[in-house]
Order: sequence, then structure tokens, then C-alpha cells
Amino acid sequence: MPETPTRSQRSPLVLDHGQAPPLTSEPRRPAHPLLRRKPVEQLVAEGGQGEGGALKRSLTMWQLTTISIGATLGTGIFVVLGEATPIAGPAVFLAFVIAGLTALFSALSYAELAGSIPVSGSSYSYAYATMGELVAWVCGWCLVLEYGVSVAAVAVGWGQYLNELLDGTLGITIPEGFSAPLGEGGYVNLPALVVVLLCMVFLLRGAKESARVNSIMVGVKIVTLVLFCVIGFMGVKAGNYTPLAPLGVTAISTAASMLFFSYIGFDAASTAGEEAKNPKKDLPRAIMLSLGIVTALYCLVALVAVGAMPWQEFEGSEAALAKIMENVTGHAFWSVVLAAGAVVAIASVVFAVLYGQTRILFAMSRDGLMPKAFAKVDPKTGTPRVNTIIVCLFCGILAATIPLGELANATSIGTLFAFGLVNIAVVILRHTRPEMNRTFKVMLFPVTPILGFLCCAYLMTELPGITWAVFGGWMAVGLVLYFFYGMRRSSLATAAAPAPTAEGAAEKK
Ligand code: ALA
Repeated sequence: MPETPTRSQRSPLVLDHGQAPPLTSEPRRPAHPLLRRKPVEQLVAEGGQGEGGALKRSLTMWQLTTISIGATLGTGIFVVLGEATPIAGPAVFLAFVIAGLTALFSALSYAELAGSIPVSGSSYSYAYATMGELVAWVCGWCLVLEYGVSVAAVAVGWGQYLNELLDGTLGITIPEGFSAPLGEGGYVNLPALVVVLLCMVFLLRGAKESARVNSIMVGVKIVTLVLFCVIGFMGVKAGNYTPLAPLGVTAISTAASMLFFSYIGFDAASTAGEEAKNPKKDLPRAIMLSLGIVTALYCLVALVAVGAMPWQEFEGSEAALAKIMENVTGHAFWSVVLAAGAVVAIASVVFAVLYGQTRILFAMSRDGLMPKAFAKVDPKTGTPRVNTIIVCLFCGILAATIPLGELANATSIGTLFAFGLVNIAVVILRHTRPEMNRTFKVMLFPVTPILGFLCCAYLMTELPGITWAVFGGWMAVGLVLYFFYGMRRSSLATAAAPAPTAEGAAEKK
């Protein structure tokens, strides 16, 4: 009996269901290995399929929206606002508007591509369909920086917040030996490890359960910020808004580039493409909606914060929002409520970002660029269990033991690089696949993706030299891994290789 050919022995253009692909305008001549592209139809047809099972489609539009809000709303508003206000003055809310506009251009591109290529790989998969394997790998490697490394850094920040909360409420301080890694005065950062492991437990239960936990945490952080606005509003003094820009317009733009960090994460919904019930329609909506909600909240919170406390007083105040709550009400209780909300908020960033990282690696593994273990799906829960355990252990140990320092700073540059690529990918796909059915189209094409790309490039140039050096080192490691591992094991490479013949096998002997 003839053996069924394995996926790697079939033509890359024959879909898994055995049907012929729809007519496409993809080039048919063999591309150079570094430039080989994965046709959109193939990416979509493989969607959901992992090793030994398929991901479950259970996520609604609102759950997708909360995944993006979960990954976005966190340290930026609770901590970075306090650092940006002394730079911009009361006009800090305008800095949020500028940073939000910059994010909007890229979000539009993400929305178009997520609706056209609704898979878990996010920008990695979009790059694979448009710019070829090498760029896709580079993009995926940047996403490890945006998701995997940043989540370790956020977990460290969460530990600091928890310590402050415990100190302020119960008078308990976690000994430094167990709240900081070697090289930073301690042995291990236990809180950072604990938050990652807790997230792992929930992530392992399945996408639906994860989305439920995430929605609760997102609800808590939104209520906390709305509560802040209501209470803070009572302390607003018109005089605090004048002069609006005491440090000049350039200072507002500097603050805006700092605050761009607070918008990172809106793309997280695009990593859930293979678990969404109606991805083509819901992913673009979720991305745009989450950005709208987050931007409105940021601007409102910033407006109330600088109205309730003179901007000079933000200098050196890490927990500015909690301080405002206490000043306005006269009770320390409210600052504790805000700090507790911040602890939940930052934990939800850890949760949603870990989820995104597992799904990106899942897509890369299915394409052969990462070890197969990342694409194994547990048939019971419909989740990539092994992947989740590896990612969480890796990030947890990273957060607990390594002083991340500059590596964490390099996450912004990696994110901007990936966003820049997505803006290019939209333009390329419109050119190569004009006939494709798009559930969402960026308006004012090609002006918005070009502006999106330019904004990302500009923000990258604003980052310090050391960040560029670290990013260069990160990329060098990534390229070595690609040339020694991914390039040879890519599923497109193995599919293109001729199947071994009996003669060939005999010759080898
Ligand atoms: N946007 C995320 C945060 O502010 C990274 O924490």
C-alpha cells in the first residue's frame, strides 16, 4: 500500500485538506531560501493546526479586545506617567495623544493584516507572507524581545509594586535577598517568579478560561482608573493647567516618545487569530477598539492627574496616582486601593503578554523555525501546553535571576521594528494581492502605513546608543540561530527538497 505523504513531502502549495489552493498572484518561480514566502492561503489553511491536535476556537470579539487591553494597560499609566509629567508639564495628556496617534497608524495596519491573515503568528506571519523567511524570522525574533523579555521585566516591576503594597498595608517587606536577583543586591526575585508561575497555571487551563481570568483582571484595572478619575476630579484646580507647556513643545514630543511604551501591547489580539471564533471580522475590531479604550483612559487619567496635583510635584514620585488619591481624600485607604489595582493591572500585562508569546512561538514552530515542541497541542485543553510551560519557566527564571537592565530597554526598539515591518507588509500585500478579500482596510492608503512606518523609524532614532548596541547584539544572536537552525528546518525548505529515492538511499549506504 502506498504510504500517505507527510506534510513535508507534499507541495507547499497543496493545502492540508488536499484541495488545490485558490488562484493567487503569488510568484511561482522558486525563490531564494532567504526570500521564500509562505502564501497567505497556506498560512490560513494551516491555522489552528498543531502537532497532535488543534487549538480551540472559543474567543469572542470582547475577549479578544480584553487580551489587547490586558497586554497594554499597565506600567505605562501607573508608573511612566509619573516620570513623563515632569518632562512635559501639564501638557502630558497631549503627549499621550501624540503617542496614541503614532500607535494608531500601526494599529490600522495590524487591523488590516489581522483580518486578512488571521493566524497566531501576528507580525511574524504577515512578514512571512510578504517579505520572505529571513525578514519573518527577524520579526519573530523581535517579538521575543517585545513579548518574552519584556514580560520578564514587567514581572520584576510587579514584584516592586507588590512589595510597596505589602509594606504600605501590612507593614511587611520582602527581604531584599528574595526580591532582587544576583547583581542587584539579592539572590532571587521571588515575587517575579511567582507571578509568572501563577499566570502559567491559568494559561494551562485553556484559552476560554484564560480569557475569563484576563477579562476579570482587565475589569479591575479599568474600574481602578475610572475610580481614580472620579476621585481625582474632585481635586482638580484650573490653575494647575497653566501654563500648559512650561517646558516647550519639544518637551512634549520627548515625553510622547517615552509614553509610546504605554501603548505597546495593542497588537496582542492578533496572536489569538487561531483561537478566535470569527477572526476575520473580530480581530480588526478588537485591535481598534482596545486602542480607542486605552487612549481615552490614558488621556482622561493624565488630564485629571495634572489637574489634581501641580506638575512639579510628580518629580521623583513613583506612585503618583496613589499619592493623588490620598491627597484628595485625605485617607491612605484610597491610595492602597489604587496600589492594589495597579498590582492586578500589571499582573494582567504579564498574563496577556505570556499568552501572546506562546502563540507566536506556536506559529514559528509550525513553520519549522522553532523546535516542534512549541507546536504540540494538548487534545484535552486545546492549548500548547508544553510551549506554555517552557515559555513561563524561561520567563520566570529570567525575571527571577537575571538583572535585565539594558535588555529590557531594548524591548521598545524591537517592538518598533516589528511595527515598522507591519506597515511595510500592508503596502506590499496590497500590491501583490490586490484582489484579496479584506474585512478591514486602512483608510487613506498608502498615507497611513507610510506615516506609521516613519513614526516608528523616528521613535527608534530617539532611543539611546546603548539600546541600539544591545539590539544589534540581540539581532546577531538571532541571525546565527536562523542560519544554523531555522533555515534548514523551515517547513518550506523541507517541502521543496526532493523526496529521497531508493537509488539515493542506496548510494548513501
Ligand atoms: N504597555 C505596557 C505597559 O504599559 C507594556 O505596561
